[in-house]
Amino acid sequence: MTVGVAKEMAAGEDRVALVPSSLKPLLRKGIDIIIEAGAGTYAFAADEAFADAGAHIGTREVALSADIVACVHPPSESETQLLKKGSVLAGFLQPLEKPAIAARLAAQGVTALAMELIPRISRAQSMDALSAMASLAGYKAVLLAAARLPRFFPLLTTAAGTIRPANVTVLGAGVAGLQAIATARRLGARVWGYDIREVVREEVQSLGAQFVELDLEIEDMEDDAGYARALMAAKAKQQADLLVPHLAKSDVVITTAQIPGRTAPLLVTEAAVKAMKPGSVIVDLAAPSGGNCALTRLRTDVIHHGVTVLGPANLPATMPADASYLYARTMTALIGAFIKEGQFAASFDDDIFSSACITHGGQIVSRRVLQLLAA
Ligand code: NAI
Repeated sequence: MTVGVAKEMAAGEDRVALVPSSLKPLLRKGIDIIIEAGAGTYAFAADEAFADAGAHIGTREVALSADIVACVHPPSESETQLLKKGSVLAGFLQPLEKPAIAARLAAQGVTALAMELIPRISRAQSMDALSAMASLAGYKAVLLAAARLPRFFPLLTTAAGTIRPANVTVLGAGVAGLQAIATARRLGARVWGYDIREVVREEVQSLGAQFVELDLEIEDMEDDAGYARALMAAKAKQQADLLVPHLAKSDVVITTAQIPGRTAPLLVTEAAVKAMKPGSVIVDLAAPSGGNCALTRLRTDVIHHGVTVLGPANLPATMPADASYLYARTMTALIGAFIKEGQFAASFDDDIFSSACITHGGQIVSRRVLQLLAA
């Protein structure tokens, strides 16, 4: 049985799906690992290090024709044609954003596992690539904000005078939001966190932040999978209006609110931006799914009413060494879980496999993907 990793070709993607230090669990199961020459260069994972760790260095074609292919981004059309019928492909396959990719993979006869659809359950924690990457994004968002803010983050007492700490508000306290809160606290800012899921209040407070109280009168907004449900339109508008006075007091706003598979909720209106102090910074992590701020433009820095609004697209790729390390750990945990006696042996009775699998036996097997394609 072989596992192959090719160089990521998507623009700006410097991560690689496996790193040398992650290979042991697969090698121990008797698997041969083939890495395309140069696949890890930008993640500081050299071919020599892969070879020393026990991998074979090969061509792109050989890596992509392995029994199991690990990737970060979905393969292009021409790469898909190199995948072997009956092989397994695991990676961020964008099943909800680009369901047509699943159709392509099904036609190629590939068993495709979308890392995005791994359920957030305790048994799958070590495979949760989305959370690992969101954590990096939350951290980096705060650093970007600090670099653009014309002020300090911490309280500073100097001979020349005292600087008050910056006020940072984080909207959406999931994985990215909680890491943003923790990072802003470490930099010494006064931090507020907000989420519509009441259960995260304690987590926000345990990180030393205050919870933003909005008089919104909503019921518990958490679904069975632990994700948020969307607010009705009237409540969503009320929420954005109620946030305005709080945002006006913030020097930095980091937004991370999302409902999986839907356009990001609008939390920061143009009126809210206008009410903020000139020089303030908004980092909108939800930019790839439409943005939480009305003025966000994906991959573009804009200044409106004196407020800088950043809409970064792929922050984990800006930290490719650690991002690849964490991603590779989730990847080996996923693949390793389904290798039994040298064979890939997964069953649809397994809730991790049945949630993550989008194509199998020439068919699209994910109901969500089928619904999206039908729509
Ligand atoms: P998550 O699902 O763990 O957290 C999202 C949070 O938003 C949840 O806690 C949810 O309750 C909350 N939320 C939903 N609707 C809300 C509303 N109306 N008001 C307040 N809170 C609301 O997601 P995660 O993993 O933390 O990712 C956060 C965002 O960051 C996502 O949009 C994700 O796609 C994005 N992301 C962006 C990256 C980038 O480079 N731009 C990289 C990684 C993630």
